[in-house]
Amino acid sequence: MPDKYAVIGNPVEHSQSPAIHAEFARVTGQDISYGRILAPRDGFRAAILKFRDEGGNGLNVTLPFKHEAWHLAGTRHGFALAAGAVNTLALQGGEIVGHNTDGIGLVRDLTRNLRVPVRGKRVLLMGAGGASYGVMEPLLREQPGGLVVANRTLEKAIALVGHFEKLQQYALQGITARSYEALAGAQFDIVINATSAGLEDAMPPIPESVFAPGALAYDMVYAKRTPFMKFAQERGARVSDGLGMLVEQAAESFFIWRGVYPETRSAIAMLKKRVSG
Ligand code: ATR
Repeated sequence: MPDKYAVIGNPVEHSQSPAIHAEFARVTGQDISYGRILAPRDGFRAAILKFRDEGGNGLNVTLPFKHEAWHLAGTRHGFALAAGAVNTLALQGGEIVGHNTDGIGLVRDLTRNLRVPVRGKRVLLMGAGGASYGVMEPLLREQPGGLVVANRTLEKAIALVGHFEKLQQYALQGITARSYEALAGAQFDIVINATSAGLEDAMPPIPESVFAPGALAYDMVYAKRTPFMKFAQERGARVSDGLGMLVEQAAESFFIWRGVYPETRSAIAMLKKRVSG
């Protein structure tokens, strides 16, 4: 019997994770099964324990359960600790170990696939919800020249910055919280949209001038051209959606479970075809 993995969420039928992990298994020659679990909103814990007791080896966790998974994990590793969210569970001899690979996925997509180093760059992160918490520490580890977190509800950006200021190992002098209006006159080399605005065909009210010459505008949403992406492109920025981040976070999960790092190019190409077809 192959080792058993799955993605758990609600909804979960749209998840591309089974296709991505099937491609990783193919390129690495690993024999695994990978399914989908739709958990009731109040039934996450029960679904996890059932999967574990049936011999499951690992899970990817998607919305709305990442925070609950963090609480459920008996041990939390690496970036999951500060993120307060877990997107990968390893089930090891009855123990539930939590990881967060979202931020690693973002940084790998930026630096390896898009060839945009973060080090020394002026970075604007829009949004102060779970998606932003998940990527903060890996972004800080890259030592950007400055990191501004902007949010519609300013208090949430202030709380997020305060939370990560406690991580003593990073040079944090350049990390600040701002409202969108307060971005007037500021320019950034990398502008990341971690808000859910694009899902409702809206965008954060950023000034037109935020894109420095040659800036990258990155939207964590994939399979959708968001108003932010259109806005950025019309103002001369290079634009990327979050498809590469999705594949790279999955690659890190695969590595945690299997000890083998899959080559991601073929999965990215496969997924681009799937979502455009
Ligand atoms: P997630 O876990 O995906 O980050 P979330 O915790 O609900 O989801 O956070 C959504 C983020 O998108 C928040 O930063 C939210 O801003 P507020 O904190 O002010 O609510 C942001 N967001 C959602 N719709 C938005 C819009 N139309 N314009 C600007 N920001 C928006």
